[in-house]
Amino acid sequence: MKPVSLFAAGLLCVGIASPALSSDKVSAGAKVAQSCVMCHGEGGLSSMPGTPSLAGQSEIYLANQLRQFRDGKRHNEVMNVIAKPMSDADIDNVSAYFAQFEVELKKR
Ligand code: HEC
Repeated sequence: MKPVSLFAAGLLCVGIASPALSSDKVSAGAKVAQSCVMCHGEGGLSSMPGTPSLAGQSEIYLANQLRQFRDGKRHNEVMNVIAKPMSDADIDNVSAYFAQFEVELKKR
């Protein structure tokens, strides 16, 4: 019984703590994203071959890729230049922005 109630309490804390925090990140990220959508598409849904969609990707994955581009561990001429001036906060915020979207799959 005890583990269950602890789990419920944990959920409650997350429920209270994260919406405000994540919506701040998302709105700050929306500003950063203005310079991404010309390639990655509105909301991060790309229609350009060679440029991946960012919409609905995991926040952790996006942030990891951006840090790797910034730190020169992942190589791409365009993205290395774009990520170079980004702060950790920019990266976390823009990742939260693109991760907020839900992508639905259907066959072509
Ligand atoms: C001039 C076009 C262009 C712009 C502007 C641009 N990107 Fe990219 N981005 C690319 C291309 C092309 C790739 C594919 C790189 C590769 O093939 O490794 C990419 C890859 C990425 C990836 C890796 C995705 C994956 O699935 O691994 C992330 C994350 C990303 N971009 C984020 C951003 C963010 C955030 C911005 C805005 C701050 C941005 N990009 C702006 C062209 C662009």
